[in-house]
This record gives sequence, structure tokens and C-alpha cells, in this order.
Amino acid sequence: MAALVMPERKTVGALLSWARQALIHAGISNAAQEATWLLEHALAMRRHQLVSEAEQPVSSDAWTRAEILVARRVAREPLQYVLGTQEFCGLEFSVSPAVLIPRPETELLVRQVCNHVQTRSGAILVDVGTGSGCLAITLATRLTKPRIFAIDRSSDALAVAKTNAARHAVLDRIEWLEGDLLAPLLGRVPEGSVDAIVSNPPYISESDWAGLEPEVRVFEPRMALVGGVRGTELHERLLSESRKILAPEGVLVMEIGAGQAPMVRQVAAQVGGYAPLRIIEDAAGIERVVVAQRVE
Ligand SMILES: C[S@@+](CC[C@H](N)C(=O)[O-])C[C@H]1O[C@@H](n2cnc3c(N)ncnc32)[C@H](O)[C@@H]1O
Repeated sequence: MAALVMPERKTVGALLSWARQALIHAGISNAAQEATWLLEHALAMRRHQLVSEAEQPVSSDAWTRAEILVARRVAREPLQYVLGTQEFCGLEFSVSPAVLIPRPETELLVRQVCNHVQTRSGAILVDVGTGSGCLAITLATRLTKPRIFAIDRSSDALAVAKTNAARHAVLDRIEWLEGDLLAPLLGRVPEGSVDAIVSNPPYISESDWAGLEPEVRVFEPRMALVGGVRGTELHERLLSESRKILAPEGVLVMEIGAGQAPMVRQVAAQVGGYAPLRIIEDAAGIERVVVAQRVE
């Protein structure tokens, strides 16, 4: 960015053109679109105003705000952290570097849980590794009077999730628990009573982590990404720890990484107590979600 000269005329149009050039220079592939989003945010203007008011002067405060946002993006900070939000299942979620940015493929988990619970009132649900709260909150808005527990090891993530729950008016409909996987449920729900456990656990292997894009590796929380040496360690623990608390025919719905289905299938068979796993592919044809249904 140092190589780019600041425009002399401090107008909306000059700022937009400078921002676009700065992002192109930094190798951002969607530079024109992202420059528009960043300036909409920094100048509190709508996209059409950036064009129709291109000759309008920009105050020095607004100019500085825009420069800071563009500099963060040039340093490869994910756009969602810079803008502070990400959409998930049609709802807007605040995101910060304390939480993983919700991904579109994770929406598949919501559909599986809703299919299982359908219109039944009062289902007991658990979201393990809630992060931004995107799964628990979306389910709270879609289902009829569910009892939802949202668990995370990170107190910072839980703080973000609670802000999001308040934003979508479901803060009091979710019980927020800090701790390791299902441990915080001890004494809170009887054995054999939970209708669905949903989780998008960390599933990158230690060795794959180093090869991730800088946007992910440098900025997103490692605790949200890395599952262990194999990557499937948390799935394995969830399969074995969920059995006791799932209701008969209750489901454990988990997101998995590319190529992890065979390992997860093998562990489910070893643990026992589940029907053969159902595997759902994402839009790219990658096996992305496993549904383990309790039997016996
Ligand atoms: C991949 S992120 C998923 C966040 C969110 N559910 C989503 O789908 O966008 C995994 C989350 O699990 C949490 N986590 C990691 N290990 C955990 C553990 N042992 N027990 C509970 N939560 C854990 C992380 O802090 C992180 O928020």
C-alpha cells in the first residue's frame, strides 16, 4: 500500500478509486466489490451514493476510517472481521477474531436438525462449539419452544454468541455454558433425554493447518480450527460421549472435513449404539455432514 499515492482531491470518487487500487495491489481478487463494501461501511453511504455523490468531499475523520479499514484488508484480515458481520441462514451475525466466521456449508446442519425435530414442541438440543452462536441461534428462531444449550470452551466466543442472540431476540431461550464438549451438561439434563446434538467442531489436522490461507491461519482462532493430529479427534469424542445423553432415535449431527467420512464411520461402528451413518454432501460434492442416529 505504501507504493500507492494518496489522491490530492478528497472526494468520494477519489477515495473509492484509491481503495480499489490498494486492494488490487494487495492481490485481493474481488477488489472492486470489496472496495465498495468497505467504503459503504466507512462512509455510512449506500452503494448508489458512492457513484452519484462521487464529487462530494469526504471529511478527514471519514477518510481516516476508510484508510484503516482498507489497510486491515490489505493485511489480509478477512473482510467479515473488518466489516464485523457475516450472514448465516438469512440472519446477520456479528463476528470478531474470537469466533470462526460462519461458513455457508454449515447451514446444512440446521436443515438436518430441523428435519429431525420437525414441528415437535420442546425438543432438547445441544450446540457443541457454538462460536458466533450461528447454529444455536438459528435453531432457536426456527423451532417451536426448543430447550437449547450452547457450549464453548472459549469465554470470548460465548460473549460474541450472546450478543448475537440478543440481536435476534433469543438470548433467554438458550442456556450458555462454558466448558469442554458435553461436560457442562452434567447434572443439567437426564441421560437419554437429548433430541439432537449439533456440532461443527474444529476438524483441521495439525499438519494441514500450516497450509491454510493466511486469512484463515493468521486471523481465525486456532482453537476453532485444529482438531488434533488426525483432525477427527473431537468427532470421535462426541460419538462416544453423546451416546449416553441422546434420547432413543436422537441424532448427533456433525460437520466433517473433506475425506474424513471413512474415519468417522469406522469410529461410530467401534463405539456402537448408532444406526449406519448418513452422510450429506455440500454444494461442491464434498462429504460434509454426518448424521448418527441413536439406536437400542
Ligand atoms: C469450527 S468452530 C464452529 C463455530 C460455530 N459453531 C460455526 O459453525 O460457525 C468450533 C468452535 O468449537 C470451540 N471448541 C473447540 N474445542 C472445544 C471443546 N473441546 N469443547 C467445546 N468447544 C470447543 C471453539 O472455541 C470454536 O468456537
